[in-house]
Amino acid sequence: MADQPVIKEYTNGEVTVIWKPDTCIHSGICLKGLSRVFDLKQRPWINMEGATSEEIVTLVRECPSKALSIKGVRFKEPDHSDREIILIPHGPMIVKGGGTVQNRKQQDVFHETVSFCRCGRSKKHPYCDGTHAKKKEE
Ligand code: SF4
Ligand code: FES
Repeated sequence: MADQPVIKEYTNGEVTVIWKPDTCIHSGICLKGLSRVFDLKQRPWINMEGATSEEIVTLVRECPSKALSIKGVRFKEPDHSDREIILIPHGPMIVKGGGTVQNRKQQDVFHETVSFCRCGRSKKHPYCDGTHAKKKEE
């Protein structure tokens, strides 16, 4: 039988962050954006007392892979006029603000933040699956 994906929950009693480590693409956005909460050197690595619920929700919304999400919350579609594109060195292109991806076989509409593979090694092409962060021989 296939292994069940790991899903962990962290709560401050007001909001609950859901963490799916297998989905993380190692963008570092959480670590850089709210290091008082997201810190790989601490255990647990998510400290729900490190910031307000609002700050945590705002940061989780930025997670490009949806490895982080808020339990019971579906984020509203953002205003596309504030679209932003970020190039991660040796990693993906992150697009915030939603859009449409035209593929030969399908059309994907996304409303939040997504990350596109730039290394050519993703198994979920055109989206980044975190492979860029692994050693080439793996
Ligand atoms: S993909 Fe999400 S959880 Fe993983 S490092 Fe980036 S922001 Fe953090
Ligand atoms: S850039 Fe992340 S898998 Fe290619």
